[in-house]
Amino acid sequence: MELQRALVAGGTGFIGSHLARRLVLEGYEVLIMSRHAGEGSSAAGSLRRVPGDVLDLKGLVKTLRGVDVLVIAVQFPGAPVEKPRLGQTYMRVDGQGTVNLVAAAKTAEVKRIVYISGAGTRPGQRAPWFQAKLVAEEAVRESGIPYTIFRPSWVYGPEDRSLNQFAAFARRLPFVPVIGSGRTRVQPLLVDDLADAVAIALGREAAVNQTYDIGGPQTLTMDEIIRTMLTAMGRHKPLLHTPAWLMKAAVAPLTLLPSPPFSPGAVDFVLMEEPVDNGPVLHDLGLTLQPLARGLDYLQA
Ligand SMILES: NC(=O)c1ccc[n+]([C@@H]2O[C@H](COP(=O)([O-])OP(=O)(O)OC[C@H]3O[C@@H](n4cnc5c(N)ncnc54)[C@H](OP(=O)(O)O)[C@@H]3O)[C@@H](O)[C@H]2O)c1
Repeated sequence: MELQRALVAGGTGFIGSHLARRLVLEGYEVLIMSRHAGEGSSAAGSLRRVPGDVLDLKGLVKTLRGVDVLVIAVQFPGAPVEKPRLGQTYMRVDGQGTVNLVAAAKTAEVKRIVYISGAGTRPGQRAPWFQAKLVAEEAVRESGIPYTIFRPSWVYGPEDRSLNQFAAFARRLPFVPVIGSGRTRVQPLLVDDLADAVAIALGREAAVNQTYDIGGPQTLTMDEIIRTMLTAMGRHKPLLHTPAWLMKAAVAPLTLLPSPPFSPGAVDFVLMEEPVDNGPVLHDLGLTLQPLARGLDYLQA
């Protein structure tokens, strides 16, 4: 079966935009779904923006008509800082939003789904981001549509909002602030490697109805990651650690704001340690994962 038209929900975001560009290289006609498709819609090459809000089931069915492959890489604006008063929460957007997308995909007879979940998603996890991912994954698995689910660890790349934030601190401040001890262990994954995995999975029978952990090839502490970044930037700056409890106490009053810039929950999110097992994804998809120092080449440019 030849799959020709792909729609990336979240295709204007960090991961989704990389996935969309990669699928164009694979020969797909790629639609990028956005809540803001009307505002300055672009039609560059084979990338076209189409309107869609995961909270609008009826509109989604219309948007998904004629789509062969649905790639889901959506999260609420400003994640991981939830804003319940604005309806910007994990459960509403990532959880229920994915349930809606999958329901629309069934009606529109989409042939394949790729869902970007998150490392550590498994039954019994209580944090709101995991609860939402569990709901979303279940909807994908129960859809009857052939699927592949990826559970990536921390993803970095030229447009990410986490490592680039540290890079911005390193350019502007005499030190780099780090929440917690800096000993949190992470497997940083280059966004291009995730895009490779998605592209390969779409052409490989072994990846149908599979759920894969995927992380970078190294397990590094947060301090090691930031020092590798500093080396790539050619800078030397000390790291300044703030204890998690102090950070949480400092940001707790911000949650009284309708749109808080940070929250205690976001502190827990950034300090999360969820090791991933790359064995199955490497076995089935034959990927080459970039070590961090090589993946950060873009910082030297
Ligand atoms: N970044 C990481 O390190 C990482 C690691 C593991 C897993 N993930 C997962 O990967 C996914 C993508 O993450 P990201 O960092 O690329 O996110 P991002 O850059 O914040 O992009 C979020 C996307 O979601 C879309 N969106 C938000 N609300 C929407 C709505 N109501 N309806 C339709 N689209 C909506 C946005 O599109 P518009 O604003 O144009 O509508 C945007 O394209 C998330 O599910 C995340 O949990 C990320």
